[in-house]
Amino acid sequence: MKIKLNLRKLEHFKNDKNFIELFNKGIDFAEEIEKDSSIGFTELPDTDIYVEKAKAVAEKLPEGIDTLLVLGIGGSALGAKMVRDCFKEFLNKELIILDNVDPFTIHEIAKKINPEKTVINVISKSGSTVEPISQFKFFYNLFEVELGKEETLKRIVITTDLVKGNLRKLADELNLLSLEVPENVGGRFSVLTPVGIFPLEFCGIDTKLLLKGAQNLKKNGKEIAVTGAVLDYLFYNKGKNIKVLFIYSDRLYRFGEWYLQLFAESLGKRVDRDGNKVKIGATGVLAKGVTDQHSQVQLYKEGPDDKFFAFFKVNKKVDVLIPESFGEFEGFSYLNGKTFSQLMDAECEGTMQALENEEKPLILYEIEEIDLEAMGKLIYLFELQTAVCGYFYNINPFDQPGVEEGKIIAKKLLGYN
Ligand code: PA5
Repeated sequence: MKIKLNLRKLEHFKNDKNFIELFNKGIDFAEEIEKDSSIGFTELPDTDIYVEKAKAVAEKLPEGIDTLLVLGIGGSALGAKMVRDCFKEFLNKELIILDNVDPFTIHEIAKKINPEKTVINVISKSGSTVEPISQFKFFYNLFEVELGKEETLKRIVITTDLVKGNLRKLADELNLLSLEVPENVGGRFSVLTPVGIFPLEFCGIDTKLLLKGAQNLKKNGKEIAVTGAVLDYLFYNKGKNIKVLFIYSDRLYRFGEWYLQLFAESLGKRVDRDGNKVKIGATGVLAKGVTDQHSQVQLYKEGPDDKFFAFFKVNKKVDVLIPESFGEFEGFSYLNGKTFSQLMDAECEGTMQALENEEKPLILYEIEEIDLEAMGKLIYLFELQTAVCGYFYNINPFDQPGVEEGKIIAKKLLGYN
């Protein structure tokens, strides 16, 4: 399935000398990133080893499981959440992803699950993040009270670093089923590792199709990723320090959440690669088409000129006809015989034109149809784009010292030394 980048009124950039120079530089960056063995996400589309490992672990789990409870946060949760919510029709088990420590939600899940039929998948690359560890303590206890230790241990899968960290130690000591997060892949780039592959594959998603799409984009779509990175960089330098993702698809909404995490955590940095203080990074904002036309668009059209817009539209949608009911009433009849797809497309086009009339910069990603391959393409496309954009900023897109600092302080507040 194709993903097309439509530059609309920005098409003229393609003939701009500065853009062409940056584009060529971006292609070099993309090649450098793909060749660098310390950066692992680029290798993932080319191997199905993690699908095989996920299947091997699944075979060792007790029979009759109908629920998988994932405990993880940030990059350990958002990828699987995005795919789960886009492809609900393929799920053959309930996939619960707990990425918060709100006691209300924890209590709700505890009431709902049947430990005998549930597997717990604790995901933490570092093995020491307070949220999954605290959740794990809670659900382990709940299961142990009901099933006893032996049966509980059979229902745990740990996904963490292969050698380092507390969870790895625990998995080894208790001989638990486990999977690895490759050392050279950071959390937010890890959806195509066991972090995303195991929960999705175990619950019925054909993850090889995700890999196939990612591989296809890697082979044929570098130009789209680099063009997006150049535009992000150029417009940020022109003072557009807010990037709005306008997503005209309910199914793809969580893709927006996943991408915004990738964008924020990778590109928001205060020090560049030469050690200079820089304070770089645009703020990502998520808008849902058509819903947010009736809220945010007022600001986007008439408010400050500090935004760059990326629209996302799915060309082939399920067609639902708007019936002719009340068609004889004035103001209703123009909808007779139209479909909701036509309505959604017209609203998307209307919003884009309204912004363009105000000279707001925008681009449009046209996704031919949503399927697992298209999702795999989106994953690799935006991972590569983000990494290339980081190289334009001359920052390290693969670390997250700001996030780490907050985690350490919170743990200290709880008495950890
Ligand atoms: O992208 C990242 O590195 C973060 O969002 C992490 O995924 C998140 O902080 C969770 O970390 P961990 O997997 O070590 O528990």
